[in-house]
Amino acid sequence: MKFGFVGTGAITEAMVTGFLGSKLELSQVIVSPRSAETAARLAAHLSLVQIANDNQAVVDASDVLFLAVRPQVAEEVIKALRFRQGQAIVSVIAATDRSTIGSWIDQDVELTLAIPLPFVADGEVVTAIYPPSSRMAFIFSATGGTIQ
Ligand SMILES: NC(=O)c1ccc[n+]([C@@H]2O[C@H](COP(=O)([O-])OP(=O)(O)OC[C@H]3O[C@@H](n4cnc5c(N)ncnc54)[C@H](OP(=O)(O)O)[C@@H]3O)[C@@H](O)[C@H]2O)c1
Repeated sequence: MKFGFVGTGAITEAMVTGFLGSKLELSQVIVSPRSAETAARLAAHLSLVQIANDNQAVVDASDVLFLAVRPQVAEEVIKALRFRQGQAIVSVIAATDRSTIGSWIDQDVELTLAIPLPFVADGEVVTAIYPPSSRMAFIFSATGGTIQ
């Protein structure tokens, strides 16, 4: 399973650290190149992490795609991307509801909202997700648990 992250900031660093330290069987983690310092740190310490050339390359390579940019740039970032029908997408973007993200994605995808806390890095925190999803519940159960 390949995880991709558009937005390589604080919460992506925590999720990548937590997922790769968990029992999830990941073959690759692809991160977007912005915030080069964080991306390079992750790639240097975690051999499965690769830095993509651009955001679209992250989308194209991902089985599960995490959207983790700040709300202020989310519309511009998401509208510029092309998603696959049925693609599994997790938005951790604050204060932006599911229908709004869905309208920006403009494709029939499996969209889940999640609220991870930085402690996902240690695998010790429960993550809220919406709507209920057995696939996403399984993924976040690896970092401490899920409330659906
Ligand atoms: N931090 C938390 O505990 C937490 C928890 C749950 C949810 N969230 C949510 O998760 C999102 C990210 O939060 P964060 O704390 O990780 O913020 P952050 O540290 O500021 O990270 C945001 C990242 O997005 C990157 N970015 C900006 N424009 C981009 C673009 N056009 N394409 C790709 N990447 C771009 C930034 O790169 P540059 O540095 O180069 O600008 C930065 O690496 C927010 O919506 C936040 O509300 C955060």
